[in-house]
Amino acid sequence: MSGYFVVFEGGEGAGKSTQEALLAEALRDRGLTVTQTREPGGTPAGEAIRHVVLSPEFTGLDVRAEALLFAAARGEHADKVIRPALDRGDVVICDRYLDSSVAYQGFARGLGPKRIRDLSLWATQELVPDLTIVLDIDPVEGLGRFQERDRLEAEPMEYHQQVRAAFLAMAEEQPDRYLVLSARDDRETIAAAILERVLAGMATA
Ligand SMILES: Nc1ncnc2c1ncn2[C@@H]1O[C@H](COP(=O)(O)OP(=O)(O)O)[C@@H](O)[C@H]1O
Ligand SMILES: [Mg+2]
Repeated sequence: MSGYFVVFEGGEGAGKSTQEALLAEALRDRGLTVTQTREPGGTPAGEAIRHVVLSPEFTGLDVRAEALLFAAARGEHADKVIRPALDRGDVVICDRYLDSSVAYQGFARGLGPKRIRDLSLWATQELVPDLTIVLDIDPVEGLGRFQERDRLEAEPMEYHQQVRAAFLAMAEEQPDRYLVLSARDDRETIAAAILERVLAGMATA
């Protein structure tokens, strides 16, 4: 594989979508080919799985069944979208990946971080990011960036705090594979730090 795989992680409202767009634009301006994606990645099977996870038709889905479906969608996304793009030499920018499952299902839902990580590693045939960017913010502030109250009320704040701590713990374990930035800085400052690290990472990959 000759491309470079960048993942953005962080809670709701951290600015992932904002920074993904800015990074893609900056890299394209440098003549690089960028594949911007997010799960389930637009594959037919992935969309069908997404329907099962999100549709009110299946409310009350067992948490383990849900974790398996997320892993299944990730496997399909890795196989059909991410790996082919990397094989072409693209920079792949992905909105959330394996660490989101580890943080949300593994830590916050209590299914066990190691089990959830191993499941995703098996599903993706060990396809892991070259670089994971964690946009860190207090969930009270992150969720407050959205107006919709239902998002705030969907899960207790403690749940979102656990997710935040999980991302930071994963980053601390593998500092060479992570960049943690305060999501409270202004957009341009964050974008510049991300671009610098991505270009440096690509140069040594
Ligand atoms: N650095 C920033 N400072 C303040 N607000 C921001 C910043 N980055 C993004 N926002 C705003 O916060 C909201 C959430 O950003 P978004 O990129 O959608 O986050 P995410 O994709 O992580 O949920 C949007 O209204 C966006 O314009
Ligand atoms: Mg987003």
